[in-house]
Amino acid sequence: MAKPVTVYVCSHCGAQTRQFFGRCSSCGSWNTLVEQLQAAEPAADGRRRRPLSAASGAAARPRRSASIRAVGEQPLQRLGSGYGEFDRVLGGGLVPGSLVLLGGDPGIGKSTLLLQSARAMADRASVLYVSAEESAQQVKLRWRRLAQPVATGEAPAVDGVAEAAADPDLQLLAETDLELVLQELEALRPAVAIIDSIQALHDDQLSSAPGSVAQVRECAAALARIAKRQDTALLLVGHVTKEGALAGPKVLEHLVDAVLTFEGDRFASHRLLRAVKNRFGATHELGVFEMQGRGLAEVSNPSELFLGASEPSSGTATIVACEGTRPLVVELQALVSTTSYASPRRSATGIAVNRLHQILAVLEKHLGLPFSRFDCYLAVAGGLEVEEPAADLGVAAAVVASYRDLTLPPGTVLIAELGLGGQLRPVSQLELRLQEAGRLGFNRAVVPRGSGLGPAAAAAGVQLLEAGTVAEALVAALGVDPADDRA
Ligand SMILES: Nc1ncnc2c1ncn2[C@@H]1O[C@H](COP(=O)(O)OP(=O)(O)OP(=O)(O)O)[C@@H](O)[C@H]1O
Ligand SMILES: [Mg+2]
Repeated sequence: MAKPVTVYVCSHCGAQTRQFFGRCSSCGSWNTLVEQLQAAEPAADGRRRRPLSAASGAAARPRRSASIRAVGEQPLQRLGSGYGEFDRVLGGGLVPGSLVLLGGDPGIGKSTLLLQSARAMADRASVLYVSAEESAQQVKLRWRRLAQPVATGEAPAVDGVAEAAADPDLQLLAETDLELVLQELEALRPAVAIIDSIQALHDDQLSSAPGSVAQVRECAAALARIAKRQDTALLLVGHVTKEGALAGPKVLEHLVDAVLTFEGDRFASHRLLRAVKNRFGATHELGVFEMQGRGLAEVSNPSELFLGASEPSSGTATIVACEGTRPLVVELQALVSTTSYASPRRSATGIAVNRLHQILAVLEKHLGLPFSRFDCYLAVAGGLEVEEPAADLGVAAAVVASYRDLTLPPGTVLIAELGLGGQLRPVSQLELRLQEAGRLGFNRAVVPRGSGLGPAAAAAGVQLLEAGTVAEALVAALGVDPADDRA
């Protein structure tokens, strides 16, 4: 067998050298050379080797799609993680042989989530939990504290210690050496393996430090090969960089089937799980959890979390944001006050500040409101990030309500995107949003004209107020004309 040699590959231009340089001699970029292992000589006869299929070791041949399940194979059965919220983000559970990368800030609860899922899955399948960051005793200590996955409000069902003892199909391995982890994976052939974390594993054949780009890539690739071969679903924990991106090479994200991020406000107890990439389900699905003393509990009715105070006050407006296929009713709060600076201050929490600038400019131009002389602060309740433009009209209403010191009638939601010309533009999944608003007791919705959803809204118990422009929409929502100075 050819002996592997170390080469250094520029992650910018792809040039290879046998020696390490701080600067790529080909493209001139600094610090882009990463170590890689490569087989030294090609096959002796100079011909390309035939590719072997990962599953059988036989030469891969094309097959008719219709025959793929029919040849005595079972259709893929997804394995539930124990959390309905986790399963939804995964697209309906873990797919055998798939690789899922879970990233998140330090201490956000990645290990907690996976350990609690491991416990639930161990009831139905064999699970291997590889802890590369904590000792077996430390994991056991955490285990004792954690309860079975529960929804908020439910009492934990079983005591942690008793459950751990009665649970034979969960194996715990505290190891950082990739070689040993691979051996155990091959020996145990678990249905699910959890690696906490991929950055802490190291491959002895590479001289670079654990967590370096080369190490992360090699470790993940080796684990992926085994997982695909023996149909083990792999859950990898990944660290994030200071900027919030997943640490390690971008190829890691290409290599895995799903990339999930676990995020949350350090000052609040709820945590959000999102799919950034998913080969087996929709992306931008959202799972909501709450960190409690006995671990993570899932929140199946998160709109209540983002609704804020029940008493309406001036400068608040309610929108229905859609995260993947899930509508969320969210409260926005705005504060508009006279500026004491040469250029007014604008700050937005949970919404891109550029979006706020744009909406203020539209309001100034089309309603004649002098926002350039006012500071403007905007916040989304509950620490949620709202990215979609369907929040535009809600932002406009909150800002105008604060400026005029008006209170929106209770039970009103605003759902529309704002064009630069002041017109309202349609949004996706409007029917779903109206249903969610109706379910939570909202009875008026301001939406773009021509939605054709009158009957659906009536069925949801929501009165539809259709408007063509932002001026019309605000009159409909507030009951007075905000552009009129006597309002
Ligand atoms: N004894 C405890 N009681 C209540 N909550 C705890 C306790 N110990 C830890 N926690 C909670 O669990 C969180 C830590 O979770 P966890 O270790 O799963 O995070 P992590 O994402 O795996 O972190 P890291 O990246 O450091 O591995 C803490 O932030 C804290 O909120
Ligand atoms: Mg951890």
